[in-house]
Amino acid sequence: PITQVIAIDGPSGVGKSTVAKAVANHLGWTYLDTGATYRAVTLAWLEADSDPSLLEQPTWLQNLGVDFQAGDILLGTRRVNKAIREPEVTANASFVSAQAAVRTYLTELQRQIARKRPCILDGRDIGTVVFPDALLKVFLTADDAVRAKRRWYQIGGDQANQTLDEVLTALQERDRKDSSRTLAPLKPAKDAWTLETNTLSQEEVIDRIECEARRRF
Ligand code: C5P
Repeated sequence: PITQVIAIDGPSGVGKSTVAKAVANHLGWTYLDTGATYRAVTLAWLEADSDPSLLEQPTWLQNLGVDFQAGDILLGTRRVNKAIREPEVTANASFVSAQAAVRTYLTELQRQIARKRPCILDGRDIGTVVFPDALLKVFLTADDAVRAKRRWYQIGGDQANQTLDEVLTALQERDRKDSSRTLAPLKPAKDAWTLETNTLSQEEVIDRIECEARRRF
């Protein structure tokens, strides 16, 4: 059976979350940021002195209580929306998300949330692993330089505390790790619709995905 899910996968900084949020809004569906769940576990792990053995313990993971509530990402009762965007979390997320027990826990959590209502999920492995039977699978791409520039402007451009070059290097490093890992690597599903966005505005990308989604209902 086809699941009432739209999967949006792709590399860092390609605009997945902005696009997924807008499409969800237009369709009246729920938006689920799966990257935020990996970031939340990464934050908790850094706060637990980065003990690698914790990432192999299903009970430690379950007790973190990763959840979404009214658009907030929670660790138990604590809202961590801001903390999970810190550079240290970003830099460590690829290591944490390559661990088998972490993926098992979060994949199941994402499925549980999305089975309750129509959802748009963005991430790296939604179309390949989490919901291979999704109604629509989109794989967004853009050249490294284009993505780095978008990300750099987003964090303030000339006012940012990172140079464009530093942003580019960090982004390439994260993509390399996410694409080369054994478990659920970043790659398009066989039946994904690959949308190259180098010369498309965000509005154009949103429109195209929304049109395609409506055609499939
Ligand atoms: O999407 P975002 O950049 O917030 O994701 C942070 C990290 O979480 C990614 O670099 C990746 O390592 C991991 N991730 C993942 N699978 C997903 C979503 C994110 O492995 N579905």
